[in-house]
Amino acid sequence: MKRKEFLKTLGAGAAFAITFSCLGGCTNDNGDFFPEEIAIEPDPDTGALLTIDLTDTASNSLKKNGGYLIKNRIVVAKDLNGNYVAATVRCSHEPRDKIIFRNNEYYCKEHSARFNTAGNGLNSKGKNNLKTYKTSLDGNLLSIFA
Ligand code: FES
Repeated sequence: MKRKEFLKTLGAGAAFAITFSCLGGCTNDNGDFFPEEIAIEPDPDTGALLTIDLTDTASNSLKKNGGYLIKNRIVVAKDLNGNYVAATVRCSHEPRDKIIFRNNEYYCKEHSARFNTAGNGLNSKGKNNLKTYKTSLDGNLLSIFA
């Protein structure tokens, strides 16, 4: 018996409880397992989830508008207006860590969900919106906050 058939035999209430009660992770209707999202702990001194030294060669992709990098499960980008923006790498359609930045918006490589820089969904796969973070620039240090 396939998972979907099994859930049908349990009824809608039980199926909901099984589908959404995730201990240590979740599965979708295809049986794909997604590990539980790991919380990003802020730096105890600065409160930042992430700090990037923009003079570091590892952050070269943030020198040009439209560039991005992924670090500590955060997608950090410089939008086409030159503003730094940040969002989670984890998609809101399914909990897959497939978000990138392209064409001045966040994009999921799995099923093509699209989100603007404020995290608002731009298509049906993005309807649950995307968690975004605040950014702060102090000299050459870019900090990301919850
Ligand atoms: S997992 Fe991102 S669009 Fe489906």
